[in-house]
Amino acid sequence: MAQIAIEASRPYAVHIGPGLLTELPQPDGPTVILSDSTVAPLYADRLSNLRTSDPIIVPPGEDSKSFATLERVLGELANAGLDRSGTLLALGGGVIGDLGGLAASLYMRGIEVIHCPTTLLSMVDSSVGGKTAVNLASGKNLAGTFKQPQAVYADVETLGTLEIEELRSGFGEVIKSALIGDADLLEWIEPQTEACLAGDPEVLTEIVTRCVRVKARVVSADEREAGRRKVLNLGHTFAHAIEQVAGYGEIPHGVAVAVGLVLALEAGAEIQLLEDSSLPGRVGDLLEKLGLPRNLDELRERSGNSLAPPALQRAMSLDKKSAQGSPRFVLVRRAGSVEPDSPLNEGLIESLLTPR
Ligand SMILES: NC(=O)c1ccc[n+]([C@@H]2O[C@H](COP(=O)([O-])OP(=O)(O)OC[C@H]3O[C@@H](n4cnc5c(N)ncnc54)[C@H](O)[C@@H]3O)[C@@H](O)[C@H]2O)c1
Repeated sequence: MAQIAIEASRPYAVHIGPGLLTELPQPDGPTVILSDSTVAPLYADRLSNLRTSDPIIVPPGEDSKSFATLERVLGELANAGLDRSGTLLALGGGVIGDLGGLAASLYMRGIEVIHCPTTLLSMVDSSVGGKTAVNLASGKNLAGTFKQPQAVYADVETLGTLEIEELRSGFGEVIKSALIGDADLLEWIEPQTEACLAGDPEVLTEIVTRCVRVKARVVSADEREAGRRKVLNLGHTFAHAIEQVAGYGEIPHGVAVAVGLVLALEAGAEIQLLEDSSLPGRVGDLLEKLGLPRNLDELRERSGNSLAPPALQRAMSLDKKSAQGSPRFVLVRRAGSVEPDSPLNEGLIESLLTPR
């Protein structure tokens, strides 16, 4: 079991380990569980020692990050008689965390939220740091708030029921965390990719703990993304363009991030920022062992989508992280050290995206 302190404006702890769900302390005030219809039948029972109202269950998947579902959740919080002393307990992946966090920040101008992430991606990334959101027709995560939780409980045992593709996808964010702030984590994972994918609880506890430490350092230094927090977007300018061009939901986020990492490494090598020329190949090999595409061409082949360079470039120029239409990139100097805000010229981007 590990415990990591997040030094945000509202400090809290992230608890990580197998079996945590059955040990959750009773939250103060009336409590409601929010979950999805895949996770609730698997894990809501493990919270049965807590006094809670009937759980609010939404359909699984990205479509639940909508205003319509948010409105329904807010209505059900009211129907459950929750007052301002209430707590929403978000049990599920990043969709439930983002939706639940936003509902908690809006209901009666803010109630407590406790995150119980159940996917690798939500344990290492979305449950920590306080970003909440729903999607708009014009883009992903365009309506949201910052809402730091009261606590996070990552029970790695829940990862045992995750579809293997979801687990693989989570490793995209794991490798991102290693490149941002924990070079040793790459070395640590390399010889034990099989144990990682087999869901070994000790291995996963170590991985989640180390990734959360990286995120904790970044978020504690820059809670609202005024500067340094941008490093968490490593690979994401490329990834969001890939997801948008393929059609949201077609390519899992973590898979797009994995390919985005390789593109960011290649870009860094091209402009001679990357000090370790073996790193793109090394990361490619690791992604391959984890069952992820090792580069953009392999993703094109696997997905059957041409992911045409002009479409990707158009999508990148509309990215939230653009400055006056020119996308900014997080680039890697060496494993564990990144540059948060680099422009890249159009010609270089085009050549990186061109099929080889
Ligand atoms: N707030 C942030 O900082 C942040 C960061 C990264 C990503 N996100 C958001 O996170 C979302 C993606 O999160 P995700 O990948 O966890 O997706 P998700 O919540 O959709 O979960 C993926 C699928 O796995 C199922 N599932 C979840 N836990 C399970 C378990 N233990 N066993 C079996 N099935 C399980 C879910 O029902 C769902 O079908 C995106 O909307 C993304 O925008 C937010």
